[in-house]
Amino acid sequence: MQGLTLNSFQENKTVMNQMKRGRKEKAPYHTDLFIKENTISLDPTYIFDAQRENPISFKDVEALMPRVLEADRMLKKNEGNILDNGVPMTGWQNLPEEIDNAHLEEIKFVTDELSKEIDAFVSIGIGGSYLGIEATFQALTHSYFNQLSREKRGDAPEIYFLGQNMDPDYFRDTLDMLEGKRIGINVISKSGTTTETAIAFRLILKLMEENWGKDASRLVIATTDRSKGALRTLSDKKGYKSFVIPDNIGGRFSVLSDVGLVGLAMANIDIEEFVEGFRRMREITMSEDPQKNPALLHAAIRHAAWLKGKKIEVVAVNSKSIYSVARWMEQLFPESEGHEGHGMWVSPTMYSEKLHANGQMVQEGERNILETFLLLQEYDNTIDIPSMEGDPDGLNFLSDKGVDMNFVNRKVVEGPAYAHYKGGVPNMTIGIPKRNAYNLGQFYYMMEKSVAISGYLMGHNPFIQPGVEAYKKAMFALIGKPGYEAKAKEMADEIKKLDRMKINDRCL
Ligand code: PA5
Repeated sequence: MQGLTLNSFQENKTVMNQMKRGRKEKAPYHTDLFIKENTISLDPTYIFDAQRENPISFKDVEALMPRVLEADRMLKKNEGNILDNGVPMTGWQNLPEEIDNAHLEEIKFVTDELSKEIDAFVSIGIGGSYLGIEATFQALTHSYFNQLSREKRGDAPEIYFLGQNMDPDYFRDTLDMLEGKRIGINVISKSGTTTETAIAFRLILKLMEENWGKDASRLVIATTDRSKGALRTLSDKKGYKSFVIPDNIGGRFSVLSDVGLVGLAMANIDIEEFVEGFRRMREITMSEDPQKNPALLHAAIRHAAWLKGKKIEVVAVNSKSIYSVARWMEQLFPESEGHEGHGMWVSPTMYSEKLHANGQMVQEGERNILETFLLLQEYDNTIDIPSMEGDPDGLNFLSDKGVDMNFVNRKVVEGPAYAHYKGGVPNMTIGIPKRNAYNLGQFYYMMEKSVAISGYLMGHNPFIQPGVEAYKKAMFALIGKPGYEAKAKEMADEIKKLDRMKINDRCL
């Protein structure tokens, strides 16, 4: 039997876009038409009066505006509770304007040179040193990128991520994908001491050095602090090509820094277009008019929702490509807001899939949910729905009317948005016009600004993460890291006192 042919389908536009990027073709992102067609939108219609009891009213949001504007003013002047070790962590605010073209050219030169030598590229990092790269990569590339030919990937190497977990089987499986290939890596860690990143790095580095000896160093990029940390020391000693994470930008705000740009350039994503998207939203969010500044409105709505007892924010997407962008939000918001007993849990969700699962709870469960739809408004591809002989499922009306899958998928947002609103879940829709670097840049900046304002409104510093440091210390103690002996003893003594329930010997 001969293999499947896709005779009734046109070429995959995502692949065509990858190939265009491989040929260094640029989108016309400076033209008025492009800018008009690529503007992030925010529709809050279904936020207001969703419930009979304790609804969020327009007046609630309006009443918060003076505080939101004051927070915005303080943020712009670097005032307030924003320090980490004495450094104001607001460097991301003006970064879009500070990045110069020569630096972007340098990144592209380094990644182009490395790309020629390798078949696969591994980005090693966790948290803010991982999520933004993966989110942007997945949003803009084919769902099965690594399974495509190099030509269809736009001459980019295969792209993998490691260090974001310590699952030995996942690690081993990834090695199988790398076997027999020439690989290059970017190890990313601001602190340079994050256990997961460091372990993944030493394993990969050992393999590379066993295979290629001293030559391995040419295939390693290190992205870390300018002068301190273990990774900086090692990088200087071994002569790795290295990039710097600025002191005044925290991990989850770093996707526009070299943390994100190097990996994205390696996947042939247009980093100049990405920067331009950030610049555009920075300009838009300079406005003090909440009607014109979506970050202010977004921050006010979320804060009003939190004050009304919304403890979970379901961030729902109807496109696999931007699911990782919702996962990026899952980091940005809870890591910044989850302090001093504050914060909303962000739950990334893919519809339709989850409408047949926890969608039941969104519709009829406890009314502590705010819902945010990330609506991709235009797909790369259009899929027509064929008619079927005899109309066994009663769906021929779709093909008769010329309705395509794209239309149906849009209703996968519009349907639940209405139904959930009627069920008492306030919801808003953020429209992302198309899958391009410009729109993602705009979106990220808007969210960074919104969460920063949220920190001021909640009354804590959104730029630190002592909770994350707490787990790191407990883990260092448990794995026996030198220097953590006292902590290990204190934990062991406390754990001994617990009335532990064991079902079998393999518990904890
Ligand atoms: O947002 C953050 O600060 C964190 O998520 C960090 O990015 C994460 O812990 C990784 O830290 P590092 O880059 O120091 O390895």
